[in-house]
Amino acid sequence: MAFTIAIDGPAAAGKGTVSKAVAAHFGFAHLDTGLLYRAVGAKMLAGVDPVAAAQGLMAEDLEGEGLRSPDVAQAASKVAAIGAVRAALVDFQRAFARRAGGAVLDGRDIGTVICPGAEAKLFVTASAEVRAERRYLELVNKGHETSREAVLADVKERDARDMERAEAPLKPAADAVVIDTSEMSIEEAVAEAIKAIDARLGE
Ligand code: C5P
Repeated sequence: MAFTIAIDGPAAAGKGTVSKAVAAHFGFAHLDTGLLYRAVGAKMLAGVDPVAAAQGLMAEDLEGEGLRSPDVAQAASKVAAIGAVRAALVDFQRAFARRAGGAVLDGRDIGTVICPGAEAKLFVTASAEVRAERRYLELVNKGHETSREAVLADVKERDARDMERAEAPLKPAADAVVIDTSEMSIEEAVAEAIKAIDARLGE
């Protein structure tokens, strides 16, 4: 059985954590599509043409903690605005989405562009301030030196670039269930997500 769960939303809204928990709950495979753009962004920072990097992307390019750095995140959102980069990554994501046994994909355009026919769609969001605070704590815990102001500015810059781009801009699909996690714990957000997906599974 193929069953696709599309989970979109802005940076640091809790998408990644919710997606992993949802995938574990249903026994589905999980693809963090942000990693594809981060890998291309990292290659661009290393001097590789982003379109060539996207076309030649390999599984091992998706490994490494370096992909989680703020510089790579900014580079990712820059290469993600290039149509030819996005086009090069479509087939891989669609094939993953339809694998037997079910799949959870999280990103920005899964419910709108990559899998418009997904059986369940969620849009996980939170205020920019709450997202920046979560990202700040995450970075400091990993040993990065930064400030709350710098992280908030970074989050807002990436939001603007992701929402205003012409190609596959970040927005909820018309049929997505919106979950605002600003006032929720991780457990509450995961429970909301599972409830919304259960409702679609039961249809
Ligand atoms: O989700 P994550 O923060 O890792 O994504 C990094 C960047 O990759 C995002 O800011 C966005 O520009 C881009 N992205 C995208 N489409 C996706 C996933 C990520 O454009 N499906």
